Amino acid sequence: MKKVGVAILGLGVVGGGTYKIITEHREFYKQVYGVDISVESVLELRRERALELGVDENKIASSIGEVCSNPDVDIVVEVMGGVEPAKSFVLAAIGSGKSVVTSNKELFCKYSHELEKAARHNKVGLFYEATCVGGVPVIRAMLDNLQGNRFTSITGIINGTTNYILTKMSNGGASYDQVLKEAQKLGYAEADPTSDVEGYDAVYKLSILSSLAFHTKIPYTEIYREGITEISPLDIAYGKRLGYVIKLLAIGRCGKNGIEVRVHPAFVSKDHPLSSVNDSFNAVYLTGDSVEDVMLYGRGAGAYPTGSAIVGDIIYCATHPQHRYSPFDNTEKAKPNTKFIKNFSGVYYIRFKAEDRAGELSKLTAIFSKYGISVAQVIQDSDIADIQKGKVPLIIVTHSTHEDAVNKAVAAIKKDNRGTEVAAVIRVI
Ligand code: HSE
Repeated sequence: MKKVGVAILGLGVVGGGTYKIITEHREFYKQVYGVDISVESVLELRRERALELGVDENKIASSIGEVCSNPDVDIVVEVMGGVEPAKSFVLAAIGSGKSVVTSNKELFCKYSHELEKAARHNKVGLFYEATCVGGVPVIRAMLDNLQGNRFTSITGIINGTTNYILTKMSNGGASYDQVLKEAQKLGYAEADPTSDVEGYDAVYKLSILSSLAFHTKIPYTEIYREGITEISPLDIAYGKRLGYVIKLLAIGRCGKNGIEVRVHPAFVSKDHPLSSVNDSFNAVYLTGDSVEDVMLYGRGAGAYPTGSAIVGDIIYCATHPQHRYSPFDNTEKAKPNTKFIKNFSGVYYIRFKAEDRAGELSKLTAIFSKYGISVAQVIQDSDIADIQKGKVPLIIVTHSTHEDAVNKAVAAIKKDNRGTEVAAVIRVI
């Protein structure tokens, strides 16, 4: 029987889950796939963590050099996170002829072109299903099952922490700060939640997924980003009244005018399947020219769901003779002449803290009209003036318009400075 040795770099939550899956399923993989997959080496500074997981003492390596020179290791699994030393370790593994499986979205997003070039040169595989959406098999679905399509859009809830926070805020009416503290206590949010709540984590994942979908590198620097820290319970409540649910969306669209890529909070209609993706669950909604709409749903993080994606890559690598690379010219930048659209179009929800006096609404709509923005809906609640310090919440939902027009109108209203304030601008998808 073919023997395949694995080394795991980092025995944190995901590394530990991966170790357990491989060891607990070893006999099953032998029977079903005809390969004997075993963990032959681990690189983990906390020796007691490795021992606690049941790793044989002789298999705890003390350096990446030791892992790379181990002839029993065929595949190196990198689950350390961050750019360095992960990048040097991955390049060292590739350089010594090992295939690599990684869950490191930041590393893959920023350096996939470099890693892939090295993997091609050394004729080894480079697998990254676990970089995006944990246990949800979106990368292989795009590479294999859906490869006959030209994708026109990809829309996802691809960060579990923010989806958990927004779901709890929507269900209980609590503030962002309250729910974040609770999420940290429960271990859903990191002690430093910046990468999740400010949208960087989703940006890295969208860069990887949209590059695959649109067949050109989508540098993460081209992705518009806005986090969830400014979302208020008041906007969530108005959204509900309007038939919307708030989500942090990652959106990629590819059309004849170019590519648009963005991560920001958005109101999603209650009729859209993404609106019912709650708590820490993730989903990716793809539109292809042949398949039309497909939604993949599941757990986007955690030891076993992410471990499932990693072990899937290990088995694929162990059972397929050909190596796997991106199906596009993976360079540092997008293909020449790729146009990135920044002036998005869509419907906008705008909440004002408005002076409740004659003519205020007509002044606002006059500014909207100046920038060609058509108003679709207006809500004003005079009875909750007290919570707005004498001002009333006034909501305007526009017809489809452009980002530039909305920004200009908002700037003009702010400049006008006669008491009415712009309190929130949320895109509606
Ligand atoms: N921090 C990520 C999330 C999980 O909250 O979805 C790992 O990608």
